[in-house]
Amino acid sequence: MRTQKVGPAPRKFLTLLLVCGLAGRLGATPDPTKVQGPEACGECHKQEVEAWKLTHHYSTFNEMHRSDDAKAIAEKMGIHRIKSESLCLDCHYTEKQQADGPTVIAGVACESCHGAARDWINVHNDYGKGFKKETELPDHKAMRLSAALKAGMLRPDDIYSVAENCFQCHVIKDEKLVNVGGHNAGTADFDLLAYSQGEVRHNFFDSAGKVNADDSPARKRLLYTVGALLDLEYSLRAVGRATEKASYAITYAHRVKADKARLVLINQAAPTQEVTDILAVADKVSLKLNNSDELNAAADKVKTLAQAFAKAHDGSDLSGVDAMLPKPESYKGTVYQPAAAKG
Ligand code: HEC
Ligand code: HEC
Ligand code: HEC
Ligand code: HEC
Repeated sequence: MRTQKVGPAPRKFLTLLLVCGLAGRLGATPDPTKVQGPEACGECHKQEVEAWKLTHHYSTFNEMHRSDDAKAIAEKMGIHRIKSESLCLDCHYTEKQQADGPTVIAGVACESCHGAARDWINVHNDYGKGFKKETELPDHKAMRLSAALKAGMLRPDDIYSVAENCFQCHVIKDEKLVNVGGHNAGTADFDLLAYSQGEVRHNFFDSAGKVNADDSPARKRLLYTVGALLDLEYSLRAVGRATEKASYAITYAHRVKADKARLVLINQAAPTQEVTDILAVADKVSLKLNNSDELNAAADKVKTLAQAFAKAHDGSDLSGVDAMLPKPESYKGTVYQPAAAKG
């Protein structure tokens, strides 16, 4: 067996670590040796790239390190070059392997959310020799999708896995970065539905690139509920990392309480066994300092149940939550529409 170079772990290895309950020790950075870069995707996904270029995920690449806030954080953390320190890299940038080593090529990009693509880029779109989307055989399609998954692709259908990425960055893992560095303690109001359907939205498939479509009502319910479950899971892990009574610990203890309160309402509006079980798990833990074993064990249980929830429900059975969903006016940022759709 070859010795493993120290660096971002391949996704398979990462999954193993997650299963072993060590989540949180790695960032969301895709493996630089497998990253293709957004231009490679743009060959076929032109509108997706146009939409992405108007997001904070894109602009952070050119803007973040220049801001006074960034300089102040870096100074307090003893960091000299923001773009090459893994502490900032993990969440603000994408690296790609070049002749002289991994190089920052973009901000948060396609592969930060869909997985580093070297092994699936030519698999996920291959309908079979002589076949098109419309004529692809069902067996071939099943094989193609499972091959892409095995090669590390995170598909929108697997809503838990795609959304999990958001929380690996929008929940801060490093207590010091917040308490000492003065970085904000993550995105306090991160609602998966509101945050994915504004500037981040890129749903062009059904219109072949013409319209950035609104998700179906069922899909919205699912995004909202799975997002609430992930927020609870990741906030529990964050409290588990807290060692001092300061901003980080206090923020995430509050966030766990707010998540529980929201899930109680969700479960009243659209009761499910999974959410009932998750609330029972969350009720048992104590949100105190230096309690990582108990909090991680609880987060692992929440994860398993949340994944089961995401598999078992397509949203059609969750119409009870409709009144709770954030309205389009509160979606985060402006939805990009191709010129033709603006009329
Ligand atoms: C050569 C063309 C091509 C390239 C390059 C390409 N894609 Fe795709 N992509 C497609 C096609 C075609 C589909 C539709 C597949 C289908 O019908 O299931 C697709 C589907 C997808 C989907 C949705 C899959 C699903 O199952 O819902 C995602 C996500 C995606 N691509 C991401 C990417 C990313 C990220 C890159 C760059 C790393 C990329 N693609 C590069 C052609 C391409
Ligand atoms: C765990 C992920 C994570 C890490 C690590 C991280 N950030 Fe951030 N950062 C974020 C997120 C998420 C936001 C947006 C938060 C929000 O919604 O308000 C952000 C916002 C910022 C902002 C405000 C927005 C802007 O672009 O001006 C600055 C400045 C910043 N980060 C600097 C840094 C610096 C410097 C480092 C390294 C010392 C760093 N961050 C490490 C996730 C991270
Ligand atoms: C690799 C890390 C990473 C991942 C993955 C990630 N984000 Fe972000 N996100 C950031 C950072 C960093 C910022 C702040 C960038 C800046 O302003 O400099 C940000 C900003 C945003 C903003 C703009 C916030 C504002 O204040 O205007 C939205 C919306 C957003 N993210 C949504 C999402 C959603 C939805 C997902 C998952 C589908 C996601 N993000 C996944 C790191 C990430
Ligand atoms: C911040 C995370 C994030 C980034 C960055 C991102 N995606 Fe996605 N992508 C998602 C999520 C989440 C969905 C499912 C959205 C939904 O259900 O509304 C998705 C859906 C898709 C789809 C299927 C859309 C459809 O119409 O069904 C394609 C194709 C795709 N992404 C390609 C890309 C490409 C290409 C890039 C880079 C230009 C990119 N994505 C960047 C998170 C991301």
